[in-house]
Amino acid sequence: MKINVCIAGASGWVGKPLCLALSSTNDLNLVGAVSRTNKGTSLKDFFNKESFELNFSESVEEALKVPTDVLIDYTKADVVKANVITAICKGVSVVIGSSGLTDEDFVEINKLAIEHNVGVIAAGNFAITAVLLQRFACEAAKYLSHWEIIDYASDNKKDAPSGTTRELAYRLSEIRKPELTHPISQTIGERDSRGTTLNGIQIHSLRLPSYVISVEAIFGAKDERLTIRHDAGTGAEPYIEGTLLAVRKVKNYVGLIRGLDKIMS
Ligand SMILES: NC(=O)c1ccc[n+]([C@@H]2O[C@H](COP(=O)([O-])OP(=O)(O)OC[C@H]3O[C@@H](n4cnc5c(N)ncnc54)[C@H](OP(=O)(O)O)[C@@H]3O)[C@@H](O)[C@H]2O)c1
Repeated sequence: MKINVCIAGASGWVGKPLCLALSSTNDLNLVGAVSRTNKGTSLKDFFNKESFELNFSESVEEALKVPTDVLIDYTKADVVKANVITAICKGVSVVIGSSGLTDEDFVEINKLAIEHNVGVIAAGNFAITAVLLQRFACEAAKYLSHWEIIDYASDNKKDAPSGTTRELAYRLSEIRKPELTHPISQTIGERDSRGTTLNGIQIHSLRLPSYVISVEAIFGAKDERLTIRHDAGTGAEPYIEGTLLAVRKVKNYVGLIRGLDKIMS
């Protein structure tokens, strides 16, 4: 039986190629697509593709009136949480691509998902190379005690740090907290120039034209340094396969799974 899927953010940079990829599979069925600015427009016209048979909905609430197994969210930091809660409360599983959710939000989402007996898979980055960055950085954190993270994104990205960086910080903190030779609170000069502390890790966010999403974990040791860096390109294709994998697997879980590597065999 096919899995019925709704995409919130279907007209976006990731949403568009995701709609196209999903509609060309044999096991997934696109039954809902949300975009406020395109509400009522047929996907057939939007994509110039005859095989699409639905119109854009204005909201997740409206789109989920059609029986749906999984909601994918690629929207924005200020709406993702409400969308996820709406879906969970209707018994719909969720795959979260949007960034901006905090550790506290994830705790709340996990609790709600368990209460409603549904699965949620969230990944700060659904690209395989980002999963590898996480793995390699976690390995380095076992051996090196000092590290900080630099989060790079385009100047129009409103949330900070990026989902990629948040998840990396969360994962590294599960290994251990980095050591600080000089406490941040005792910084002489501008304390904020030492960045923000997330999960016990110093994070520095840059928002500049020409970046897409990059993250750099820098490990420092006496007389040596290791930099592990991931750079996303300008296309959204790297996120598609990972997202579709999550859609296929999310019904196997109850509660929140955080990180693509957790579902990769
Ligand atoms: N996890 C990953 O691997 C990964 C990869 C890339 C991006 N992301 C994240 O995914 C999200 C989407 O990225 P994107 O580059 O595709 O963004 P985008 O091109 O700006 O698309 C955003 C989509 O969300 C909708 N939207 C925007 N504001 C909204 C609002 N207030 N309420 C409801 N819908 C809204 C837009 O349509 P309307 O304005 O018409 O509603 C559009 O369809 C971001 O949070 C980004 O950081 C994650």
